[in-house]
Amino acid sequence: MPDSGEPRRPRILDVGCGIHKQPEAIGIDRNPASRADVLCDLDRLPYPFRDNCFDRLLAIHAIEHVADVMATMEEFHRLVRPGGTVRIETPHYTDFSSFCDPTHRSHLNSFSFRYFGEDHGGFGYYTKARFREISVQVKLLSFWKWLGFEFLVNRFPRYRRFWEHYLCFVVRGKVMNFEFQVVKPQMNTDEHG
Ligand SMILES: C[S@@+](CC[C@H](N)C(=O)[O-])C[C@H]1O[C@@H](n2cnc3c(N)ncnc32)[C@H](O)[C@@H]1O
Repeated sequence: MPDSGEPRRPRILDVGCGIHKQPEAIGIDRNPASRADVLCDLDRLPYPFRDNCFDRLLAIHAIEHVADVMATMEEFHRLVRPGGTVRIETPHYTDFSSFCDPTHRSHLNSFSFRYFGEDHGGFGYYTKARFREISVQVKLLSFWKWLGFEFLVNRFPRYRRFWEHYLCFVVRGKVMNFEFQVVKPQMNTDEHG
């Protein structure tokens, strides 16, 4: 194939894409009524793709549906190239939506992925897969947002920890957005960006 000189388009995987598949992404889902390009069960690993074949992976309201969050994150880690990125959007466990959907198998908080990062609290040995946390954004119910709690939770990580420990049953969360970079052995440190 001649080189057109155009940059290669990023390869994006949308996991549990449902009917709102992200533009330009390859979608996977088990439901034939979804917009999936590939039908597959997220609980049957591995997914039918090679190691490191995606630049970016999206799991939008999907991770709470899987049977094994740790194994699924390890599969995300296998699929995305070193330095590639993973976005996870999922309900905070104090939101109405977390428990009203009986197909949700996990109810998560803003520290639920910490075993994959540096701040693993001594439990880093649970997995070899490593992700660098680029950002964690928590949305709170509108009333608390207007009172400034959302700003504090997102601006100051120590305040977010305080909120999770002491406040979140009253100042309830809504949805969380995690952005991670995939870290693999011998990754060029320049890629940490
Ligand atoms: C809440 S929907 C989210 C859809 C889409 N990402 C969005 O944001 O609109 C969850 C999706 O995950 C899919 N799903 C749940 N469990 C699954 C599994 N074990 N294997 C494959 N897909 C699954 C469902 O079929 C559904 O389309």
